[in-house]
Parts: sequence; C-alpha cells; structure tokens
Amino acid sequence: MSLKEKIDEKKLPEHIAIIMDGNGRWAKGKGKLRIFGHHNGVTTVKTITEACAKVGVKYLTLYAFSTENWNRPAFEVKALMELLVDTMKKELPTLQKNNIRLSFIGNFNDLPEKCQKQLASTMEATSQNTRMNLVLALSYSAKWDLVQAIKNIAVDVKNGKVKEEEINDKLVNSYLSTHKMPHPELLIRTSGEKRISNFLLWEIAYSELYFTEKLWPDFTEEDLYQAILDYQQRERRFGKTSEQLSSKA
Ligand code: FPP
Repeated sequence: MSLKEKIDEKKLPEHIAIIMDGNGRWAKGKGKLRIFGHHNGVTTVKTITEACAKVGVKYLTLYAFSTENWNRPAFEVKALMELLVDTMKKELPTLQKNNIRLSFIGNFNDLPEKCQKQLASTMEATSQNTRMNLVLALSYSAKWDLVQAIKNIAVDVKNGKVKEEEINDKLVNSYLSTHKMPHPELLIRTSGEKRISNFLLWEIAYSELYFTEKLWPDFTEEDLYQAILDYQQRERRFGKTSEQLSSKA
C-alpha cells in the first residue's frame, strides 16, 4: 500500500501551511549560489502544490517571502522577486489546467511594481478556479498582519462602525488578511529548524506542527504524505481531555 493510499480522506487537513526552508543550505551543500537553491525550491513548490490538489487539500499556504526577508542582500531579494514573477507567468497554464486559484497574503504595496502586476493578473485569471486555493505569503509576517488589523479596528471604533464591546476573537479574525480561509490544521517546516518565524501566529493557535530535517528542494510528494499521515495519528483536543473526546462530551 502506498503512503498516499494510507491517507484517510475523512481526516484530511483542509488547510496546510508550509515554511519552505533550506534552499540556501541546499545550494551551499552543492557548492552553488543561494539562488540555485531557490530555483530548485520552485520545482518542489510545483510538486507539492499538485500533490495537495491530488489528495484533496483545499488550501495550501506557502511562506515564500517574509517581511524580514527584505533585509537579505539586495541581489538575492531582486533574484527572488524575478523568480516569483517568472514562475507565476510560466505556471499560469498549469494552475488553470489543475483548476487552482492563486491568492495572496501580505503587504502588497511593498512588492515591486512588476510583482504586483503579475500577482494581480494571475489572481484575476484564476479567480474562478475551485479545486484548491494556493495562497502565497509574500512580504508577509504575522505581526505585520496583526498590527494592520489592530489599526483598522481602532479606526472603525473611532468612526462608530465597531463598538468596543463587540471586539472578540471572531471580529479580530475578520480583520486579518487570512479572514476568508479556515485556519491551517497542519503546519510543516522543512530544514530541521524548529521555529515559527513570524508566520500565521494567530491562525496556528491549534495547528499541529510537523518539522522535518529535509531541506525544501529535497522535500518530496512522499514526504508530504508522510506529514499528513503523522497529522492523522494525532489527537486534537482543543483544550479538552482525551476522555471527553472519546465520550463526545
Ligand atoms: C527559505 O530558504 C526560502 C525562501 C526565503 C524563499 C522561498 C521561495 C521559493 C522556494 C520560491 C517560491 C516561488 C513560488 C512561486 C511560490 P532559505 O533561503 O532561508 O534557506 P537557508 O535557511 O538554508 O538559508
């Protein structure tokens, strides 16, 4: 029985989020420049996106460029932005063929104009696709998202649209850039690092975390299925006890 066949379709995570880490180390290990690692990382993006669609995952969020990544050497930032634009352009037919909708979370205004245009046109072109949502986190950080949400709530309290007593979990959630999607049940990080790096802090409150030593360019379809199977073994208690869950209390 293949790993894919072992997956229980009824217990599939609806949303998987991935911190794609290790491109630089992968390239260095081969005596190549970091950007070589990012290029190979794109091949893994394609493999994993198609595998998620195949297995029936509805949302896949990829941490492609963080707010903090702007502090990398200028040539690496430029190369990454060009890679993103080229990939979106080149992969549009595959997104259409696979009925995948592209969307975005992050600070759109901070992206270079070329990237903004390509992102906007790819999102528009795929907006009617229904099989899976591929969400790119670009110029994104969870703290950035929380700060913009807090500012907008403050504005709406001031202009009378929101009353202070109406501020609760649901309202805060509705101001985040992730408000249209379910929270990820499973968060994967590659490359052996065990941290969250300012990714989806609010949304992963109850996510299952899966860390693998594999560097992102080496992460395969089988590795994804292994992560899903690991997730399916876990007991998600959401603060309750095991006994409560088994008695459905
Ligand atoms: C982390 O590895 C990876 C990134 C910061 C960039 C990831 C981007 C891609 C794979 C391209 C994505 C393209 C699309 C279309 C989604 P790192 O550079 O931090 O590696 P290191 O930790 O080994 O230095």
